Amino acid sequence: MSNTLFRTKKVEQSIRDTEEPEHALKKSLSALDLTVFGVGVIIGTGIFVLTGTVAKDNAGPSVALAFVVAGVVCALAALCYAEFASTVPVAGSAYTFSYASLGELPAWIIGWDLILEFALGTAVVAVGWSGYIHSLLDNAGWHLPAELGIRDGAKVFGFDILAAALVLILTGILVLGMKLSARVTTVVVAIKLAVVLVVIIAGAFFITADNYDPFVPKAQPVAAGEGLHSPLIQLIFGWAPSNFGVMGIFTAASVVFFAFIGFDIVATAAEETRNPQRDMPRGILASLFICTALYVAVSIVVTGMQNYRDLSVDAPLADAFKATGHPWYAGFISFGAAVGLTTVCMILLLGQTRVFFAMSRDGLLPRFFSRVHPRFRTPHRPTILLGVIIAIVAGFTPLTELAELVNIGTLFAFVIVALSVIILRRTRPDLPRAFRTPWVPFLPVLSVAASLWLMLNLPAETWLRFGAWMVIGVVVYFLYSRSHSRLGRGEGAGPAEPAEPAEPSGPASR
Ligand code: ALA
Repeated sequence: MSNTLFRTKKVEQSIRDTEEPEHALKKSLSALDLTVFGVGVIIGTGIFVLTGTVAKDNAGPSVALAFVVAGVVCALAALCYAEFASTVPVAGSAYTFSYASLGELPAWIIGWDLILEFALGTAVVAVGWSGYIHSLLDNAGWHLPAELGIRDGAKVFGFDILAAALVLILTGILVLGMKLSARVTTVVVAIKLAVVLVVIIAGAFFITADNYDPFVPKAQPVAAGEGLHSPLIQLIFGWAPSNFGVMGIFTAASVVFFAFIGFDIVATAAEETRNPQRDMPRGILASLFICTALYVAVSIVVTGMQNYRDLSVDAPLADAFKATGHPWYAGFISFGAAVGLTTVCMILLLGQTRVFFAMSRDGLLPRFFSRVHPRFRTPHRPTILLGVIIAIVAGFTPLTELAELVNIGTLFAFVIVALSVIILRRTRPDLPRAFRTPWVPFLPVLSVAASLWLMLNLPAETWLRFGAWMVIGVVVYFLYSRSHSRLGRGEGAGPAEPAEPAEPSGPASR
């Protein structure tokens, strides 16, 4: 039995699958497209919203250090992702990578985990977007009824109609085609970068040095009874739960980690990249580097403009300008943030559908979902199905705790990818690798340790929820996926399945 659970899909087979005409995506993206794509999804709710919350509750001005910690964890993971993405250039990201190295069950687990990450991530950002739109509408004197408003702290039963509408519109755009969405993304990313640069450059003139004192506020005990909401590491070692201080920086890092989610999605577009061997590592590392630098700069400026205790938790960047008497900047920032969050939402949704598509192409989810649209060449079926589900989730769910769940899922994926780098080096040393992770196995091991460390700094209840989702996934695997796997049925290694109308031409003839 362990043989079937750990059967691996040959890398060559993964690449060949993408060449079946009925299941092939269009190859149109360059390194620059990928970088824009990365920056487009990486900068979002994390910097626009979470900076204020964690500075206020966990880290004070040292939130800038939390961004550095989270950035280092992501850079380590990025070096592992880049090797895999340049070796296995097919849709599905960590899912595909682990199918080629660890085996089918681990691949299923990671795919299931990525569905959680991207679906909830999309919902979180859609709700954040809705918050900014509400604030803009309020400025203009228009107020939606509470039943149709954002759900965080809402006292009435209702549905966040704006968040749901955003997800549905973006679903439609994705169904129409990758190129269209990449073009839209480019414009929106430019607006978002302009907003971030305005915060950094204009805000620098309004800094008061006193606000940096103390830069790392002293640790403070939190109220008893927080229980499961305390970081797991504090419960494991029986430490008195506290905020701020050095440990506060790590707690903050485990939350602002959300701000970096997205660079891994660049890897999910490998199959749609013209020259993945060269462009994929460049795209991933460039987008990560740019974002880390911007985050550190933004958080230093904002905590310098306003005392961390006074920062707003809804729109901290805009409100810091209001607090220093510059409401015009605040309006511009709110507008840009709302525009920027649109691309984040769209690309998370895209990453989500591509993972689902890849799993369905392998038979682990129904094959019905892996037929691309005859005209648009997009995986329209999973896009529509997931778009509708996420719209409903975004409409009904408050976002704060969901963000932590997204983080734990993503960090778990990092652990698996780093382990996979080591394993694939041993099992398939012969594969050409356009990008090689340096210092293997030392660097991947460090990446595993760093990701686990951030996971341990997340609340115990987040671990419980994540565990429940994974248990459901394992049950689905044994009830459906194991028996429907194309690899398991021997279809993976042979010619195209009979149901396919067109025979693939095969790599040799291309
Ligand atoms: N990194 C993305 C954000 O911060 C998901 O919204």
